[in-house]
Amino acid sequence: MSRFVLLLVLAAVACNAFVMHKNLNTNKMILRVAPGGNADGPLGKPKVISGEFDNFASHQPTLEKNRNQDPWVQQRQRPRRNRKSEVVRGLVRENIVTAKDFIYPLFIHEADHKEEISSMPGCFRHSMKTMLEEVEEAMTYGVGCFILFPKVPDNLKTNYAEEAYNPNGIVPRALALIKSKFPNAIVCTDIALDPYSSQGHDGVVKDGKILNDITIMQLQKQAVMQARAGSDVVAPSDMMDGRIGAVRDALDAEGFTDVSILAYTAKYASAYYGPFRDALDSHPGFGDKKTYQQDPANGREALIEAALDVAEGADMLMVKPGMPYLDIIYRLREATNLPIAAYHVSGEYAMLKAAAQKGWLDERKAVMEAMTCFKRAGTDVILTYYAKQAAKWIAEEGGQLNLNKK
Ligand code: PBG
Repeated sequence: MSRFVLLLVLAAVACNAFVMHKNLNTNKMILRVAPGGNADGPLGKPKVISGEFDNFASHQPTLEKNRNQDPWVQQRQRPRRNRKSEVVRGLVRENIVTAKDFIYPLFIHEADHKEEISSMPGCFRHSMKTMLEEVEEAMTYGVGCFILFPKVPDNLKTNYAEEAYNPNGIVPRALALIKSKFPNAIVCTDIALDPYSSQGHDGVVKDGKILNDITIMQLQKQAVMQARAGSDVVAPSDMMDGRIGAVRDALDAEGFTDVSILAYTAKYASAYYGPFRDALDSHPGFGDKKTYQQDPANGREALIEAALDVAEGADMLMVKPGMPYLDIIYRLREATNLPIAAYHVSGEYAMLKAAAQKGWLDERKAVMEAMTCFKRAGTDVILTYYAKQAAKWIAEEGGQLNLNKK
């Protein structure tokens, strides 16, 4: 009797070996397993609940058992292997955000103290003194690039926005201060009339229309004044037609061939600018900005703007807002070899801050994810109100990255 059992077992083993061999030849290894078995891995067998799905009751093309009788999904490619630890994830990581990617926007005003912007907690209208402190602190975390936005008193606002090119205005004074104290800092200046416009528009207004070519004359004066005051990069944000070429020519004619142009190439008529307009008290005096800023519904149009800006001499192309327009960033990345910047605008900042303050989002993780997504979409430069904070987080991460964590 026991001999008979032994024979049976031997026959079964031989048969199994044959099956294995045969399947190896067809390059598909299939181990036959007894039906009715349940997963029996390192965690032990799960409890059997009556009527539950029996994984091994009949042949399934995916789930088999391996030679150890463990459940085996016959899957050669397992992308999870490249995610198995922080070190491996670090090896294969495609995009990394550094403090050097950031441009840090600073709001400035004439007062002698800083004032928090209510719709942008953690952001301030700075006095000259607190602006310098902010620059210094950001630089300790490796942020090297800044952009200035002035809040201009109402009595200085006019339709022609002459204050925009006043060499004694707040922007040239702030610029000179930063450059004298921190010669290595790169300071960008925004070109547009809105902070100086009695109409609350980016251009000169006549009969309810925003005039293109007259505005460009003013923008040229603004650009040259800013360059004379030491601006390293001028950033036209006005969206007038032909302004990049006009600004380039004006700068070059005055000998400022080294001053760069960061073009707001694809700037959309967006609701996400609300908190910025609170900060500068620059809400449109009438109507909206849809006759010059792009329609959020349009993607191809950004390529038309990009082609013009490239031809007119832009050094970098910016997309604004950022997160809701990652597709535009990607399309520009595919269409040009120039560096691409993303403006992570005030409304995006406000959303993250508000959710973080309510405890609804982990601020640090959500912000760093947003920054990384900009890089993944094809961004080189990130203009963000989070620049200092993110640079600080990056510095902390670099200092104490714990490789013992999974
Ligand atoms: C002005 C300008 C705006 C922003 C930057 N430059 C506002 C606007 O176009 O109305 C918005 C930035 C932000 O929301 O963070 N030309």
